[in-house]
Amino acid sequence: MNSLLEQLKISVSQALVAAFGEELANVDPLVAVASNPKFGDYQSNVALPLAKQLKLAPRAIAEKIIAKLEVDQICQKPEIAGAGFINFTIKPDYLVTQLSLIQADQRLGIEPVPSPQKVIVDFSSPNIAKEMHVGHLRSTIIGDAIANVLEFRGHDVLRLNHVGDWGTQFGMLIAYLKEAYPEALTTADVLDLGDLVSLYKKAKIRFDQDEEFKETARNEVVKLQAGNSESRHAWQLLCEQSRREFQVIYDLLDIKITERGESFYNPFLADIVAELDQQGLLQEDAGAKCIFLEGFTNKAGEPLPLIVQKSDGGYNYATTDLAALKYRIEQDNAERIIYVTDVGQSNHFAAVFQVAKKAGILPEKVEVVHVPFGLVLGEDGKKLKTRSGETIKLKELLDEAIIQARNDLESRLQEEGREETEEFINQVAQTVGISAVKYADLSQNRTTDYKFSYSKMLALQGNTAPYLLYAYVRVQGISRKGEIDFEKLGTHTKIVLAESTELILAKHILQLGEIIQEVERELLPNRLCLYIYELSQKFNQFYESCPILQVEEPSRTSRLILADLTARTIKLGLSLLGISVVERM
Ligand code: ARG
Repeated sequence: MNSLLEQLKISVSQALVAAFGEELANVDPLVAVASNPKFGDYQSNVALPLAKQLKLAPRAIAEKIIAKLEVDQICQKPEIAGAGFINFTIKPDYLVTQLSLIQADQRLGIEPVPSPQKVIVDFSSPNIAKEMHVGHLRSTIIGDAIANVLEFRGHDVLRLNHVGDWGTQFGMLIAYLKEAYPEALTTADVLDLGDLVSLYKKAKIRFDQDEEFKETARNEVVKLQAGNSESRHAWQLLCEQSRREFQVIYDLLDIKITERGESFYNPFLADIVAELDQQGLLQEDAGAKCIFLEGFTNKAGEPLPLIVQKSDGGYNYATTDLAALKYRIEQDNAERIIYVTDVGQSNHFAAVFQVAKKAGILPEKVEVVHVPFGLVLGEDGKKLKTRSGETIKLKELLDEAIIQARNDLESRLQEEGREETEEFINQVAQTVGISAVKYADLSQNRTTDYKFSYSKMLALQGNTAPYLLYAYVRVQGISRKGEIDFEKLGTHTKIVLAESTELILAKHILQLGEIIQEVERELLPNRLCLYIYELSQKFNQFYESCPILQVEEPSRTSRLILADLTARTIKLGLSLLGISVVERM
């Protein structure tokens, strides 16, 4: 089923051709949801930019389009407003038909794309032997939501965890552990990630101060990269320790992702450099092999290099990304590759993409996108830290959200004089706590920084997870109170859209498909959040002005259907954001 927006776009495009000829077949019909509901539901602004080309006043163009428009199934006669905007008001009958169609459909009328793409979403990607930080949390939450939306649309999505599990840091760590904790290199579970992180810091200090240690550490890297079995074993142990702790976070957040770390591409690094060399792209700069970039300059205006091999022969983060890109295109057959990292890596990706294009690794038909996001700030507006200035441990951050959700719930239960089982309380606190953290992140435009505030994200009012969950719970409450089995409501009852809140709600429900397509294109999950938030608001307005269980038929069943469709839309939308609902809270 085409969304309303799509149908109108198709109709306007056809009318353009009918009125002005084939040359306008590829003109964007510029249809969007009306900016002001006073003027209708949708509007097309296409007449304005065409004025010059067609040498006609926009209003005259709009009139000619309307004369050819065939939309009377869908809407009332389109009207021209202002300088030449065409306004569409959807007919209630049409809404009723569409609602009945989606009522019988598990997917709420949202069809999979006709030609699915192979998509890779590279997200989360923490570093071994280092703490997973809030930046990785953002990447995990946003990447998961994007992957969910694409999967729902039927794309073949490969979720990749590009963990930092390779490089000089391992030589340093192994060299240090050989001195300080030799047993950690041969036996599993001697250290936890916390130990590992502090040992890593000590190793780094030694590395920076002690030339002899630096040399030992370098030798360790060489041994590791040459495949020395003792070194490989030690490295394996270190990775496993980190992996176990990352998994705790993934389990809490219910994230599915496949690990394919930097080490995976190690065998291809030398080839990548050779390939760049063969193409004559490489230059030597102070012993390092690099490619000078276009459009990237230092303060003096000189072009900046992308270094692919250091003077000591070691490879860089960028070399791995070039190898990964080649592998993903040639072996995984990816057609769209999405990287979710903080905005600080924008230049890195732009440089990698530029070099890959030059080298012929990245063909025109493959789309690569860096999906950047801003910082997570504390309530003081500074980078999120513990009181003593340490980086916050993600496990603790998530646990705290659950604790605070539990406190809120318990005080509400007390106020309402409700008794609930421990199991219920645990389950609701867990879902609400985690949902609140995810939603607070996703509901922001990801490119901006946002302030992390437990009290804001857990509030029952405003654009928060609890507000949306509550709207869902309200509907389930109606079903319990009226002993209604929504699944048995049947599709033979005609939906009645008489009250304005019913109409507004119905129109909004039918916009889910448009929003999902927008997220699929623009990779901005906050658009979906806003949609669900507005849906919840519109539902609440409907709920306050339209009695449901106490009204006569056919309104009773009709309103029950609207309520059920709202709940199903909220549930589906939230599930795409990686958020699960509760039946009561
Ligand atoms: N490990 C990196 C970091 O912590 C993120 C990796 C992102 N993915 C990539 N293909 N570079 O910053």
